[in-house]
Formats: sequence, structure tokens, C-alpha cells
Amino acid sequence: MEVYVLRLGHRIGRDQRISTHVALTARALGAKGIYFTRMDEKLFESVRKVVRNWGGNFFIEVAEWRKLLREFEGLKVHLTMYGIPLPEKIEEIRRAEKLLVVVGAEKVPKEVYELCDLNISIGTQPHSEVSALAIFLDRVVGQTFTLSFNDAKLKILPSERGKKVLKLKD
Ligand SMILES: C[S@@+](CC[C@H](N)C(=O)[O-])C[C@H]1O[C@@H](n2cnc3c(N)ncnc32)[C@H](O)[C@@H]1O
Repeated sequence: MEVYVLRLGHRIGRDQRISTHVALTARALGAKGIYFTRMDEKLFESVRKVVRNWGGNFFIEVAEWRKLLREFEGLKVHLTMYGIPLPEKIEEIRRAEKLLVVVGAEKVPKEVYELCDLNISIGTQPHSEVSALAIFLDRVVGQTFTLSFNDAKLKILPSERGKKVLKLKD
């Protein structure tokens, strides 16, 4: 399954840290790339630096959300606490070959609920785009503990205590 993420409504300054975490969570839990609705040079560079050091081909780019939602050829899933609980739709979602997962920041436009195929909740309490995305990807992709990243410069050697990091190349 190919998974992409659309991050709606990033606010420069205010959302920089959480948007970075959305992007890093997407990468670490198996998405191929993330679309932002606006450019933020600093954020894009910090995510690309992680990709250079820790490997893989994860991309981060800007997209016009209406156009992306209209033209994406695959299943479009919007994460919202108002939606249908994930367990009720997980079999359908797992059958998709291509998936676009949409997460918001501030209030999500009504149109998004219409343009997406499914509106899915990760519990019915408000929490965060990072936690919603992480739980969704872990349940749907299921590769949190098995993914490996090609061309990594850094790799962690899991240890009981301390930090063991292999430096593979410059
Ligand atoms: C901090 S919330 C803001 C949501 C905003 N108040 C609204 O009504 O659209 C940011 C994003 O986190 C995600 N989110 C938060 N809680 C969620 C939940 N229980 N289930 C699914 N997604 C959730 C949604 O993608 C949401 O757009």
C-alpha cells in the first residue's frame, strides 16, 4: 500500500513544531510523502535534513488541497473526531492500493468532509493531528517496528541504556 499525507492549514510560526512532528510521524510510520498547503522553508529543510541523515525517499512538498483532493487517484481518508471510528472501516481502508490521509490544524473547511471518501475518528475526544496520524498509520500500515530506510547515514542500535548510533557514511 502507498500512503501519502495531506497536512491542511499550517500556520507559520505557531504550527511549526507540530507540523514538523506530523511530517516526521508520517515518515517514521510508513508514508511515502507529505503535502503541505503552504511553503515553510525552515520546516521543509528540517524534515529534508532528517531524510538525508536517517534515510529513505520521503518527500515534502506544497500542494493546492482542493486540486489534490479532486485529482488523487486512491482512497482519501480525513481524520476527524466527528467521523466513523477507525475499527468500523479498517478492512476497507486496508484494501486500498493508494491512500491519502488528511489531517487538519485549525478548523477544517466543510468541503474537505465532502471531497474525502471517508471521515474517520481515532476515538471521539479531541486530541492531536500527531497522535491521530500515528495511531492510524500504526493500525493501517502496521510497520512501525519493521520499517527500514535505505541510504541512511545514521542508524540506532537499540540498547537497554544510553544511546548507540551507528554512523554508516558521510
Ligand atoms: C487540534 S485538531 C483541530 C480540529 C478543529 N478544531 C476542527 O474542528 O476541525 C487538529 C487535527 O487533529 C486531528 N484529530 C484530533 N483529534 C482527533 C480524533 N479524535 N480523531 C481523528 N482525528 C483527530 C484532526 O485531523 C484535526 O483536524
